[in-house]
Order: sequence, then C-alpha cells, then structure tokens
Amino acid sequence: MPDYCESSRYALLRHAYARTAASIRRLLPGLLSLLLLTGVSTAQTNTLEQDRAETMRWFQKARFGMFIHWSIASVEGLEGSWPIMMPGAMPKLGNVTDDEYRAFAQRFNPDRFEPANWIRLAEEAGQRYMVFTTKHHDGFSFFDTRYSRYKVTETPYGKDVLAQLSAACQKAGMPLGFYYSPPDLDHPGYRDTSRPAKDNYLGEPHRPEWPLYIAYMELQLEELLTRYGPVPVLWFDGFKETPYSPARIEPLVRSLQPQTLINNRLGVPADFDISENVFPRRIPTKTRHIVQGTPSRIVRADISDAVPPFEEFRPWEMCIPMNETWTYNPKDHNFKSSDELIRILVEVASRGGNFLLNVGPKPDGTIQSEVEERLRDIGRWLRLHGDAIYETTYGPVQGLEAVRSTAKGDRIYLHVFNWPDDGKLAISRLPANVQRARLLAGGEPVEFARKGGDYVFALTSRPPGVTVPVIEVVLGSPWTPAPSAGKLKGE
Ligand code: GLC
Repeated sequence: MPDYCESSRYALLRHAYARTAASIRRLLPGLLSLLLLTGVSTAQTNTLEQDRAETMRWFQKARFGMFIHWSIASVEGLEGSWPIMMPGAMPKLGNVTDDEYRAFAQRFNPDRFEPANWIRLAEEAGQRYMVFTTKHHDGFSFFDTRYSRYKVTETPYGKDVLAQLSAACQKAGMPLGFYYSPPDLDHPGYRDTSRPAKDNYLGEPHRPEWPLYIAYMELQLEELLTRYGPVPVLWFDGFKETPYSPARIEPLVRSLQPQTLINNRLGVPADFDISENVFPRRIPTKTRHIVQGTPSRIVRADISDAVPPFEEFRPWEMCIPMNETWTYNPKDHNFKSSDELIRILVEVASRGGNFLLNVGPKPDGTIQSEVEERLRDIGRWLRLHGDAIYETTYGPVQGLEAVRSTAKGDRIYLHVFNWPDDGKLAISRLPANVQRARLLAGGEPVEFARKGGDYVFALTSRPPGVTVPVIEVVLGSPWTPAPSAGKLKGE
C-alpha cells in the first residue's frame, strides 16, 4: 500500500481510485436493495425514523457525556492538528512542521491504555455516554482503516484503539459515539499535500481530486459504521466554509445505522446542534437554532426567559475542554474548577442541552490527575442531585441570575446559584399548584408561601459543601410549557 509521504501522488490517487471503485462495486448491491426497500416501503421508513427518535429520547435523558480528544500530538503535549494548521498562532497550541507532526505517529505507544479505566472514570463522573475522536483534522485514524497507513495500527503501539474501546464500552453498557473530522490534512484529495497544511487546511474542493476525498470519507464511515457495533452518535467537525457533500454522506450514515444521531457540523442541520464553549442565549427552537453568546467561561445571567413548547425545542449539546486545549497539554494549567463545571452542567441542562465535557488522554493512555479529580467531584454532586439533571427538560423558571430550573413530570428543580442572605427566595413563573418542596440532598422540607404571583421559599442555612443546592418542588400535575403564540416571552 502506498504511503502518502511518497512523492508519487499520482500513483496514490490511482490506487485510491481503484480501491474506491472496488468498494463501491462491493457495496452497490446492498445499497441498491436498501434504497429499493426504503423506496417501496413507507413502513420501513417509519421504523427507521422511530429508531432515530428512540436514540434521541435516550440522548436527551443521558444529559452528560465524556468527550475524548486523543492525538498523536500528545507525545509532545501539543494540541491535535492545530500546530500545523496555524503554526505559532497561539503559543499553547504549538509550532512544528508538517513532517515533524507526522513523525509523532512513530512515537505513539500508549502502553498503559486500558479502556475499562476510562469507562470507570466516566461512570464515576455520572457521564452516560462517550464520544471518541476516531479521526481529527490531522487525518490520523485511531482505528485500523483499510484506506490509509496514517493510523494507529502503524504506530509502535500497533493495536486498534477504537476496537478495544468499543468492545469495552459494549461490555460495560456505555454508549460510544464517534467524532469524525471531515477535514483531513493528510489526504491528497482533500488538499495539495505538497504544500504546508497552513496554506490550505480548509481543503481544496475545486481540485479534480476532491471527489476521491469524498469517496475516502464514505469508505471510512462505512468501516466505522459496520465494524464497531452500534454507534449512537456521529459527531462531525467540519469547517463552515467547506462543502463535504452532506447530500451523499447523510443518507449513507442513515442507511448503515438508521438509529445514529448526527450533529450539525457536516453542513446540514441533521439531528442536533452543537454549541462550543459558549452558552446559547435562549433555549434553541426548531425555527431559531443556537445563537451563540459571547464566548465565556462565566455562567451567564443575561439570557432570555423564553420557554418554548416542547414540540418547538431543538436538541443541542454544549462541548468544552476542561482546561483550554482539547488534547493533552501539560503546559495548560488553566483548568475550570469542579464548582464551575457543575454550574456549567446545570446551566446547560436548564436550557434543555447535553453537556459533553472533554478529556485529553496522555500519550501513555492514562488520564491526568487534575481531570480525574474534577470528574469525581462532579460525580459526587450528581449522586445527590442526579434526579434534577438526568431525564429532565428545561424548566419554567428562566432568565434569573440566582436560580436555574429543570423539570420532570410533576417535579420542578430549582438549582440555587446564589443562596439568599435573608433566606427568602422569591420565584415567579412557577405553576400555581405547588404541593410541597424539599432540599433534594438530604430531603429537608422547605417551607413556602404564595405572595401575589410569586412563591417565596424560606431557606434555612446553606447546606455546607454543596456547590449548587437544589430544591425539589412537587406540583399537583405534570408541568408543560404554554403553547407559543408568536413571539415568546423574553425574546
Ligand atoms: C474546536 C477545536 C477542535 C476540536 C473541536 C471540538 O473547534 O479547534 O480541535 O476538535 O473544537 O468541538
């Protein structure tokens, strides 16, 4: 098999073309019959959509996941892909030549990689799914792809990381989603690889070689979706500027794994939106997708108090790194505190979103102690307050600085960010049929009185050592948002 470092790019392209054509010939009968089946049978289509709706129900209940960015650049403690996309632009990311970067693969040997340890840590954190970088923008595959030699099985480690992780996840019942980057700095169909990646990392779709790259993507996705068990989430990470033929890719994914959810970074809206590092300023709806707020680590108060009906809600997920870089970087000590991460989890859940918190494993396959510590702290909070996060939706109380709310059936959860000094917490916009209230951790009853449209909760002393105390409010009937009449309140 040719190596992309060889100068004979033409030979490689011919080879890739032959492989593509052979695979298409091999796949064609299956794909055709699938198309025919879906074409003639509405019942079949409905079942496929039901499968996906079921995954969506699971996804929204799960609420909290572990993002894993692993990279060969971890051997130097550098950010994955960015040191050659924007060398030197940000000192933390690194500055190496394309060849130096590629050579990291020859040093990648995670001899302490034990997938069961990652899964155990996620479980301790209360995370209910994982999303792993099968291929980042650099083009290096963490699985044993047949279509490239720039892959984990060609490193000194020699083993298929994804195969081990997916087998361990299946054994532990931990759903594993795949991050897959449509940008691919290593593929000569994606860009002219004789030039430095910094010149053309956005890809060169105008070149005649581009269709070969799209075919390569299809073949890799076919591998990912047929060799590693069920994939609940396919997490694309494309640049807005570049077209990756979503009209071909999306149906391919749907045909291979109809239940898989797809995020919105392939170039089509697909199933759910991503917000990276920032909080959306209001609960996203189908007609008004995420409007990104100002990038901020600070939990924001200036948000809309609009509460859309459930049918109008657009599912979304917030991803952030635990420090400031995505892959392992021993120089990046700017970690968010456990308290801050818990508040982010609450903030996201209170607007109906999932929180995908990133971890960058070390080159030996272990996880930094700073990361483990924070994950365990979040897990401790969740063990007491999980009822207020898992399986919830956004709640009726929005746009307040001191309180966030989530809801589930006849329960409203008030997450108290600022404990009132005078012990009186006045909340409007709660339904008028509150029956009782208690502190979720410990169960101590909370007294309340109705004054005008407000409920005033009488809080005693702040529970010690609890980052965000939660009041569970029990209503006389399940809560659902009011139907929207045009403009929502707070918009
Ligand atoms: C940012 C980073 C990229 C990372 C992604 C995850 O775009 O630049 O490396 O994979 O976030 O959302």
